[in-house]
Amino acid sequence: MNTFKISAVLLALVAVLTACGKQGAPAADGAAPAAASAAAPAAGAGISFVDTQEGKPIVIDAKLFDTPAAKEFLATGKNPYVGNEEQIKKGKRIFGLYSCTQCHGPEAGGQVGPGLVGPTFKYPKNATNKGMFETIWHGTNGGMGAKGLGLMNPSNPEDGVKPDEILQVIAWIRSHGTVTGNE
Ligand code: HEC
Repeated sequence: MNTFKISAVLLALVAVLTACGKQGAPAADGAAPAAASAAAPAAGAGISFVDTQEGKPIVIDAKLFDTPAAKEFLATGKNPYVGNEEQIKKGKRIFGLYSCTQCHGPEAGGQVGPGLVGPTFKYPKNATNKGMFETIWHGTNGGMGAKGLGLMNPSNPEDGVKPDEILQVIAWIRSHGTVTGNE
C-alpha cells in the first residue's frame, strides 16, 4: 500500500515538473489559444427579419440602424416616424427619388404596381410596419425588386435605401390611409 502512495506522489511530482518545464519554454508549445473568447451574446433581443418571398430569415447588419428611430424599430418593430410631419415630408422625397412613384403612383394609390395605402394588401404582412419594411428591403417575387442598401444594385453596395429612410417612406405611405402599421 505504501508503494502505491509513493508512486502517486511521484506521479504528481512528475506532472508538476512537466508543467513547469512547459511554462519555461513557451515557444515549444506553439501559439496559446485565446481562451477568453466568450461567445458573443446576441446583441439585444430585437426583432428578426424574414423575406416576403418565402418567409425565410434575412440578416440586416444592425450597424445600418444608425438613428434613434431606426434603433427603436429594430428593438420593437414599431415605426416612430408614423404621424411625424417632418419625417413624412422626407419620406415623400425618397418615394420619388427611388422611383416608387413610377410603379405605385405619385400618391401611392397604385399604377403598374398595387396601391400601398391599404387597409388590405396583396401581402397581408404589409399592414404591419415590420412587414412593409421587409418587403421594401428585400422585394417580392412578383415585380418588386429589393430596395435595401446593397441589395438594389449588386454592382454598387452604396446604392439603395437605408433603414431610417425606409421608415420615412413607410411613414409617408401610412399618412395616406387609416392603417398606421404600429397597431
Ligand atoms: C418597377 C416597379 C416598382 C418600383 C420601382 C417599386 N415597386 Fe413596389 N411593387 C411593385 C409591384 C409590381 C408590386 C407587387 C409585387 C408582387 O405582386 O409580388 C409591388 C409591391 C410593393 C409593396 C407590397 C404591396 C402589397 O399590397 O402587399 C410595397 C409595400 C411596395 N411595393 C413598396 C415600394 C416602395 C416603397 C418603392 C420605392 C422604394 C417601390 N415599391 C418601388 C413594383 C414596383
